[in-house]
Amino acid sequence: MRTLIKHLLAAKEPRAGVLVQGWVRTRRDAKGFSFVEVNDGSCLAHVQVVVDATIPGAEHLAEVTTGASVSVVGDLVPSPAAGQQWELRATRLELVGPADATYPLQKKGHSLEFLRTIAHLRPRSNLFGAVFRTRSRLAHAVHRFFQERDFVYVHTPIITTSDCEGAGEMFRVTTLRGDIDRAPERDFFGRRAYLTVSGQLEAEALACALSNVYTFGPTFRAENSNTARHAAEFWMIEPEMAFCDLAADMDLAETFIKAMARAMWEDCAEDLGLFEKFVDREVRRRLEFVVERPFQRVPYAEAVEILQRAGRSFEFPVEPGAHLQSEHERYLTEEHFRAPVTVFNYPRAIKPFYMRLNEDGRTVAAMDLLVPGIGEVIGGSQREERLDQLLDNLRFHHLEPADYAWYVDLRRYGTVPHAGFGLGFERLLMFLTGVGNIRDVIPFARTPGHAEF
Ligand code: 4AD
Ligand code: MG
Repeated sequence: MRTLIKHLLAAKEPRAGVLVQGWVRTRRDAKGFSFVEVNDGSCLAHVQVVVDATIPGAEHLAEVTTGASVSVVGDLVPSPAAGQQWELRATRLELVGPADATYPLQKKGHSLEFLRTIAHLRPRSNLFGAVFRTRSRLAHAVHRFFQERDFVYVHTPIITTSDCEGAGEMFRVTTLRGDIDRAPERDFFGRRAYLTVSGQLEAEALACALSNVYTFGPTFRAENSNTARHAAEFWMIEPEMAFCDLAADMDLAETFIKAMARAMWEDCAEDLGLFEKFVDREVRRRLEFVVERPFQRVPYAEAVEILQRAGRSFEFPVEPGAHLQSEHERYLTEEHFRAPVTVFNYPRAIKPFYMRLNEDGRTVAAMDLLVPGIGEVIGGSQREERLDQLLDNLRFHHLEPADYAWYVDLRRYGTVPHAGFGLGFERLLMFLTGVGNIRDVIPFARTPGHAEF
């Protein structure tokens, strides 16, 4: 049976007759034998395989080149070479799949831009292996976090007929041909349908029965913003809690971010070393900082005052009532507070219809959690649980109550104060790894003009 290199290299004592399978990173030839570095993606490290020219299969050594796949049986023995504890003395070598000289991932460093053009092969590089292992471990940590707190994992639909964020940035799903707006009632679902931008509305229905729930799934946005932080398809984690207000929602968001930073530290140690060395020298310091320092909270109105007093010429001037731009968010967290900061109580007009109207009648119980280097990683709110007020909110945002009938019903039958948030999983990964572009934390990124793979 195959032994993963991760387990092999953690061995406490020599072992005879182990089977290792993976891809060749490099081969060096000496007199009578060769050194082949093999990696199987189970960890960052490669195993050094020593191949004597006389063993069965050694006759194919010339084809054991970078990128080829091999199957090796051998004995794990202490390595005389510096920097590695073990090496594998091969007793049998099998060339499984050769890779010729056109294999594009050679040993020299490649630019991230180039690697995006070979998204099918880049997982075999050290950096992307580390990113995708980290993605897996953190996904596990997300589930652990919520499961330990008795949140119920719910699956909300990917195809939806309501625009949760009311921002109209949805991809249309249709089986119609030609003019798809002429007779939407003849479409597959009998009405216009889209890819979901958020599972929140359905999560609210589930929270109003199961108390605490969370989603973790793909969401889609047809925003034409070609930034390093926006993807057309990304994964969102959306907890939703019944009998909950904005303050408790902000508490959960902070606890969650701290737990994820700790998980990065504890569960991804080897890969974190690579990020620190090759991606972002500050990454480890940032994790410590996030785990240890208290997060800050500031109402939107005060955040605007801070920005106006900043004595900065921002590209977008700061205006009360307007959206905070990424440069504003970054100023608040990186320069003013020097800590993650949650901005709350935003103006009603710039936030979606479902947010709860505050006593002042002008702001809503919204919150955005901002982190250094990224800006917004979490957006959430307390939801409008009062029937009349929700209907008023819909009218205020020029939405048709009939389009949200089932959602409004939740306020008609046993309504409760409830709150939740959405965390962009890729933005969290960027923050925790230091990787600067969202395209590099998703195996096959979808951005405007890009869906080749
Ligand atoms: O702030 P947003 O739009 O909030 C919602 O969708 C709410 N329904 C969430 C809720 O309360 N249940 O999005 C939530 C988060 C953002 O903070 C950001 O991290 C991420 O989703 N996000 C994106 N990530 C990558 N690419 C995009 N285009 C993103 N748009 C939002
Ligand atoms: Mg938001």
